Amino acid sequence: MSGINYSEKIPNNVNLSSDRTLQRALEHWQPNYLQWWQDMGPDGSTNFDVYLRTAVSVDPDGWAQFGHVKMPDYRWGIFLTPVEGERQINFGEHKGRPAWQEVPGEYRSTLRRIIVTQGDTEPASVEQQRHLGLTAPSQYDLRNLFQVNVEEGRHLWAMVYLLHRYFGRDGREEGEALLERRSGDADNPRILTAFNEKTPDWLSFFMFTFITDRDGKYQLAALAESGFDPLARTCKFMLTEEAHHLFVGESGVARAIQRTCEVMNELRTDDVTKLRQAGVIDLPTIQKYLNFHFSVTSDLYGSEVSSNAATYYNSGLKGRFEETKIADDHQLGSSTYRVPEVAGDLLGERDVPALNALNERLRDDWITDVAAGVERWNRVPAKLGIPFRFQLPHKGFHRKIGVFNDVHVSPDGRMLSEATWTHHHQEWLPNEIDRAYVQSLMGRVTEAGQFANWIAPPAVGINRQPVNFDYIRFN
Ligand SMILES: [Fe+2]
Ligand SMILES: [Fe+2]
Repeated sequence: MSGINYSEKIPNNVNLSSDRTLQRALEHWQPNYLQWWQDMGPDGSTNFDVYLRTAVSVDPDGWAQFGHVKMPDYRWGIFLTPVEGERQINFGEHKGRPAWQEVPGEYRSTLRRIIVTQGDTEPASVEQQRHLGLTAPSQYDLRNLFQVNVEEGRHLWAMVYLLHRYFGRDGREEGEALLERRSGDADNPRILTAFNEKTPDWLSFFMFTFITDRDGKYQLAALAESGFDPLARTCKFMLTEEAHHLFVGESGVARAIQRTCEVMNELRTDDVTKLRQAGVIDLPTIQKYLNFHFSVTSDLYGSEVSSNAATYYNSGLKGRFEETKIADDHQLGSSTYRVPEVAGDLLGERDVPALNALNERLRDDWITDVAAGVERWNRVPAKLGIPFRFQLPHKGFHRKIGVFNDVHVSPDGRMLSEATWTHHHQEWLPNEIDRAYVQSLMGRVTEAGQFANWIAPPAVGINRQPVNFDYIRFN
């Protein structure tokens, strides 16, 4: 069952041909998807042959095949990891019962909303990134952008399969609506705020894939614990692909830092004006981008205290990160969790029932992971003898959801008056001048092995190919 049938219109390992109605419904959705890709997918990429990996099995040792693919001919398919024997529901009030293979009626609408919300982020990020190909700093980077894009497209397929297979007519309607919403559209925006922000330049793209795709990792990991088995198996395979997106972001920012540090050493300066004249992104500006993307993405986890999150957990629909590795009762009847609190003009913490704090817990797991990545970035200046350290801002900095919504907090965790915030926030978030400067560096580099001045080449190529491999044939 792990082999994928590529002779079918829609590659899949779910035995699609055995269910004619479902197959027809998905084949009907397919041209609409391709039309969406034409309209909203990577700008001007239609004729390119791109060195892409395509999923060919869910076998951990050999799931992907690499080769040049004409972009719109990419084979988007439906892949779930195999059924694991008699899987059980591992948490919540149904703990110990067999995992659901069909949608439990009482949770139908909740489950559909979870799947639609996850599904909506996938095409949203493709839309956010659609113009970046025009300013790629190298063929290598352009290839990585397109790889991320086609896989986000495949993640949409994954969610639409679940909607079609398990939710009948309203599932099909949701499948169409996923192609109709548009990132940033005033009338019909994507569901979550962070997915309506612009990704206007490559520093933003790398921050997005490092930070926001990492939110994706944590959401998928929580859904991979789901008692609804088809959702769990779908998300498990998506996580395999997600790892590359995180790599693209982390290594992309690291390479920008590397290049800046090299120029700082050449010119023996940390003067922002001089560094900008030299065409590299000064480290304080990179820190500002980090502050922006970290705070906006933090909001995606929702309010610190949430009865919805409690319901998802109690019902067995969405678990915690690595649920089965946690040593507790997996029902959270009596345990507590510490959440931030704002009391007057003081920032503090309080204990609440753990069941209500699951958003905060997932956010904390994600923050730990982001912080580890930031520490890896810090090795770059350290190695080059430059005394600069990147730091994550305080959790309450620049937040729009939850307890911090009504207050202003500095990156180092001080509560600020409205006036102080107004006066200083441009020191902490990219301002128009910073954004215009970064934008001014974005010019397309098309020759194999060449890189824009603001970014260092990667240490190694993709799939053990050389760095100067022809990752893109522009035709
Ligand atoms: Fe995704
Ligand atoms: Fe992703």
